[in-house]
Amino acid sequence: MRIVVYGQGYVGLVSAACLADWGNDVVGVEKQSGRVEMLRDGRTPFFEPGLDDIVTENLAAGRLRFSESVDQELEAADIVMIAVGTHDGHGGWQTQTILSCLYEVVPRMSAAATLVVRSTLPPSFVRNLSRLVADVRAQSSSPMIPVLINPEFTREGRAVHDFRSPDRIVLGVAHDPFERGLAQLRALYEPTHSPVVELAAIDASLSKLGANLFLATKISFANELAALCDLWGGDVDEVVAGMAHDARIGGQFLRAGIGFGGSCLPHQVSMTVQAACEAGVETPLLAATEQVNRHQRDVFVKHLVELSGGDVRGHRIALLGLTFKPNTDDLREAPSLTIADSLIRLGADVVAYDPMDRARYAATQIVPGLQVAPTLREALSGADAVGLITEWREFVQFDWSQAVDLMRGSVVVDGRNALDSRRLTAAGFTTRSFGRRIEPKTQEEPIVTPEQHAFSVGAASPSLAAGAVYARDTALEWEGTE
Ligand code: UGA
Repeated sequence: MRIVVYGQGYVGLVSAACLADWGNDVVGVEKQSGRVEMLRDGRTPFFEPGLDDIVTENLAAGRLRFSESVDQELEAADIVMIAVGTHDGHGGWQTQTILSCLYEVVPRMSAAATLVVRSTLPPSFVRNLSRLVADVRAQSSSPMIPVLINPEFTREGRAVHDFRSPDRIVLGVAHDPFERGLAQLRALYEPTHSPVVELAAIDASLSKLGANLFLATKISFANELAALCDLWGGDVDEVVAGMAHDARIGGQFLRAGIGFGGSCLPHQVSMTVQAACEAGVETPLLAATEQVNRHQRDVFVKHLVELSGGDVRGHRIALLGLTFKPNTDDLREAPSLTIADSLIRLGADVVAYDPMDRARYAATQIVPGLQVAPTLREALSGADAVGLITEWREFVQFDWSQAVDLMRGSVVVDGRNALDSRRLTAAGFTTRSFGRRIEPKTQEEPIVTPEQHAFSVGAASPSLAAGAVYARDTALEWEGTE
């Protein structure tokens, strides 16, 4: 098939490269100056494992091309995909980019083509999408075309794998009376052998949003559970292992730590809370998800300050990892940035190391006063304390007993529950993570009544408190039915 993909960011470039790799003839269109030249040279503008090779091979095979604008290719395309950005970088939606893209592209598409939107859209925009396209087509006296949305579920760092083997393909129909667009997309995604879920456009868009909101909520739940484990002497890793075998719960996205960052989860939570609030709908669960997530970064800083004797002024603190997760060089909404800034404001001398050169350089442009080291050893050298921010393999597999000689102090705060706390303690470090026990708890705890339990949970954790109250209120019902 002949496909044109507008927007060569993470979503658009991965889609363009992988679709070309399946044998399609693909043109990736990107307006950002400099990016097209880079791509034509086979250099990708961000780090994504495996992507460079796919781009290089498909450029060489002539199946993949890049351009700042297209004419004949657009008119001859079977499918035009839109994958431009839709958030404003400040926690809100922006639709200017996609609107100008649609005004430019839609009038020039052939009557036989299908328009597919892959960008994550504000739900209110999805509801008007079909009418908008119909108006633009009518203005240019062109017949209406099928309009579908096809949300993506790829994770940075695993995007190629996720594109090729997704758990599901979601197709949302905004306009497709004869199912021509659906037939094209079913055929396009045949190589994945994945289940295809066909929905109304609004439901497809909400299922994308819902998936990210649920993942974010899971992470904040795990973080609240970790706080309760700290309170009652539990170990969150063990607790999650005990829960994860329940097929209704599963074990993924329950890793406690400094919380979620990146360009998707944080924005989609804040944009949803904001948009719903503006429309007069309250979203207390999502507001709590956001609140817990922000709180985790403060807890991490608090741990570092406490273990440093209550004052970090003049202390050299090594932050390990800057990117919002491993296997990416993306710093968008990375917890490292706010954490580094807080520590610098408290008077610490902060030196960060990340395996990604680009991330190290970019972080110094964003956080005033942040220093970076070119290697892990140099970051650790002379440090009074270490804070692990991103669980890069290099840090997890590091022989931490060597750090004892490199460092001046012995504090390690593990923000991702990724290091072996018992080994660190045995090597002489004072360490803290989130909801993890270092020594088995032997002391008997006083018996807590259900009322005290609900009360103390309420004090520490808004969403679990709601659950505890619900459980108390429905206890009679349960008694009656069991
Ligand atoms: C997320 C979704 O996982 C994808 O399915 C979706 O397609 C994508 O957003 C998108 O909307 O485009 P991504 O932002 O790449 O993908 O990153 P995730 O793997 O979801 O991780 C997000 C953050 O959560 C990271 O900072 C990670 O460290 C954190 N996290 C993840 C936890 O703190 N605990 C966990 O258990 C899992």
